[in-house]
Amino acid sequence: MTKQSEFQDRMLSLGLARVSEAAALASAKLIGRGDEKAADQAAVDAMRTQLNMLDINGVIVIGEGERDEAPMLFIGEEVGTGNGPGVDIALDPLEGTTLTAKDMPNALTVIAMGPRGSMLHAPDVYMDKLAIGPGYPTDVVTLDMSPSKRIEALAKAKGCEMSDITVCVLERPRHEDMINELRTTGAAIRLITDGDVAGVMHCAESEITGIDIYMGSGGAPEGVLAAAALKCMGGQMYGRLLFRNDDERGRAAKAGITDLDRIYSRDELVTKDVIFAATGVTDGSIVHGIKREPGFLTTETILMRSKTGSVRRMSYRIKTK
Ligand code: FBP
Repeated sequence: MTKQSEFQDRMLSLGLARVSEAAALASAKLIGRGDEKAADQAAVDAMRTQLNMLDINGVIVIGEGERDEAPMLFIGEEVGTGNGPGVDIALDPLEGTTLTAKDMPNALTVIAMGPRGSMLHAPDVYMDKLAIGPGYPTDVVTLDMSPSKRIEALAKAKGCEMSDITVCVLERPRHEDMINELRTTGAAIRLITDGDVAGVMHCAESEITGIDIYMGSGGAPEGVLAAAALKCMGGQMYGRLLFRNDDERGRAAKAGITDLDRIYSRDELVTKDVIFAATGVTDGSIVHGIKREPGFLTTETILMRSKTGSVRRMSYRIKTK
């Protein structure tokens, strides 16, 4: 007999998929409409409504921002019916608001859930990230290595030339030096304009996506979500929080983080078994985006459990009239 207070990952996973699907469906009518805010708001509203239907005692640990910044799904907000296990929730109702507004690939709705204390309460600062897929020796690449050394080490481990490696990087002025150094190795660079949760996830399915390694800085909350995905899919990830000023260091203190230089491994970012769901908003290599047909919308969701390593892709069609 299982106790109601236990984290029942198997039972809760379908509910999680519904939450993720609902957010994607809500943002569907805003794809390619040039309005980031409206798209995000629609996803937030839908995700919150669905979460509150779940029989959980949930707390948002990675959300839309601090309580005074976000009216909904703020960090610390309690969600669910209150009847059920105590769970921590990390979410990004629309990962890639600009991708959605411009109808560019790889916008996702993302949510992860685990028992209390399962995920790092990452403050809203940047994180230096490094990820590779499964099948490599532990620490074959590390954050302390230079970008070119990482490519060299990965190529050796993969048994290929450096020019056979593809690295995914967010296209940002802050990554210019890193990109220049990567160019000297001959590796291919897939530049993305947004969406590094998808960027990291691409490493776990390199035979489909063509991406071997992800590196560079992006949002720390997205880093924890990406680590949750990789914990389910397999692969290694490292993250180090980056602070630009005292306000950001204050955010870390508020989140209980004292070692500001610490490098977190995947299993230190996400310490216990979690479940993870992401639904495609626009088309991508991980999941298809929302498909519109007269009278119907169809979504695709990837639903995963780290305990078993199960990865499901679920298609959901709903009538719109
Ligand atoms: P949004 O969902 O807020 O649009 O974030 C998109 C994103 O590209 C993330 O995937 C990434 O972690 C972050 O923004 C990078 O931040 P910045 O745009 O400041 O470089």
